[in-house]
Amino acid sequence: MAVKTSIGLDIGSTAVRAVEAARGKQGLSLTRFAVQPLPAGAVSGGVIRDGQAVTSAIKHLWGSNRFRGRQVVLGVTNRQVVVREMAVSNLPDKELRKSLPFQVRQILPLPVEHSLLDFHRLAEHGSGSTVKGLLIAAPKEPVLTMVNTTEQAGLQVVEVDLASFALLRSASRLDAVVEAIVDIGAQATTVVVHADGQPLIVRTIPRGGHEITDVLAKRREISEEAAETAKHQVGLVPGTDPEVAAVVGEAVRPLVNEIRSSFAYLNAGPQHSRVARLALSGGGSLLPGLADLLADQLGVEVVLADPVARIRARAEGEALAAIEGCGAQAAVAIGLALGAGVVR
Ligand SMILES: Nc1ncnc2c1ncn2[C@@H]1O[C@H](COP(=O)(O)OP(=O)(O)OP(=O)(O)O)[C@@H](O)[C@H]1O
Ligand SMILES: [Mg+2]
Repeated sequence: MAVKTSIGLDIGSTAVRAVEAARGKQGLSLTRFAVQPLPAGAVSGGVIRDGQAVTSAIKHLWGSNRFRGRQVVLGVTNRQVVVREMAVSNLPDKELRKSLPFQVRQILPLPVEHSLLDFHRLAEHGSGSTVKGLLIAAPKEPVLTMVNTTEQAGLQVVEVDLASFALLRSASRLDAVVEAIVDIGAQATTVVVHADGQPLIVRTIPRGGHEITDVLAKRREISEEAAETAKHQVGLVPGTDPEVAAVVGEAVRPLVNEIRSSFAYLNAGPQHSRVARLALSGGGSLLPGLADLLADQLGVEVVLADPVARIRARAEGEALAAIEGCGAQAAVAIGLALGAGVVR
C-alpha cells in the first residue's frame, strides 16, 4: 500500500517537537512523535535567539528517533503575523501573488520588503473583478532564520505554515459553533477563532505560562524551579496553598484580559460573531483551575482540545504512548503534520 508520510516540526520556546503522520488508504495515522527540550532563552516568542542550540536539539531528535524522512513542515508563531480577510484583484494565482505587495502595502504593520506574503482564496472561483480571501503576512527575517536553523540540522523545509492554521487542523471541532482555539505556550499564546473551520480572527498574544512562573518566583522569593513545581501542583485552586493560588490568579489576569479583548474585537466586527466554545491546548492549558476560571470570566464553554483525535485510531503503539501524556503540547506539531498550509 502506498503510504505518504509528512513530518511537522514545532520549534517552541521550551522544546522542539516533531510529529510524523502517515496517510494511507485507510486514512491518517500517527507513526512517530518525539520532543527535545531547549535551553532557556534559545527561542522566545517564536524568534530563534540561539541557532546552535536549536540546530543541535533538532539533530538530536533525528539522531535518536527513526523518522522516515528529512523533509519537514515548519510552524511559525509570531506576534507580527497578520491574517486578515480582504478583497484583492481577481487574477490567476501566480499573478495575484506577484501583485500582493502593491495591493496590501497600506495595511501591513511592517514594510513590505520585510514581509512574506500569501493569499488564501475564500471563494473558489470568484468571477468578479475582485476575490475575497485571507491575506497572510509574516515577518521575513525570523521566518528565514527558522528555516536556516532547521536546514543546518540536515533537514529540508518543504513548507512553512502558521501555528494557528496547524491548530485549526488538529484541534478544531466542526459543528457550526463559533469556536476559539487558545494554545497557551510558555511565551506566546495563539488565539484562532473559527466558524466551521473558516478562520475569523488569528492573534498571537506575547504572554504565556512562563510569566506566571516568573511572578510566583519573585513574589514568594523562591527559585524558578520551585515556582514551576508550585504552579503545576496548586495552580489556581486554593485548596492546598491559598497564597500560591492567589499569586497565580493575579499573574494570569493579563492573559485572560487579552483573550477577552480578542473576543470583544470579533464581536464588534461586521459579523458580530460571539465565541461559544473555547478549546484549550499548549502546556499552559494544564494549569489547575484554568478552564473553570476562563469559563467563569469569559462566559463561554471551555474544553480541553484533543489534538490527537484525528490520528489516534490507527496510531503505532510506541508513538501513541509517547504522545498521549503530552498531547496538549503537541497540538501545533500534529497540525503541521496533518496537511498542507497556505504560507510558502
Ligand atoms: N502541568 C502544568 N501546569 C501548569 N503549567 C504547565 C504544566 N505543564 C506545562 N506547563 C507550562 O506550559 C508552558 C509550556 O507550554 P508549551 O510546551 O506549549 O510551550 P512552547 O510551545 O514550548 O512555547 P511557546 O509556544 O511559547 O513558544 C510553560 O510555561 C510551562 O510552565
Ligand atoms: Mg508553542
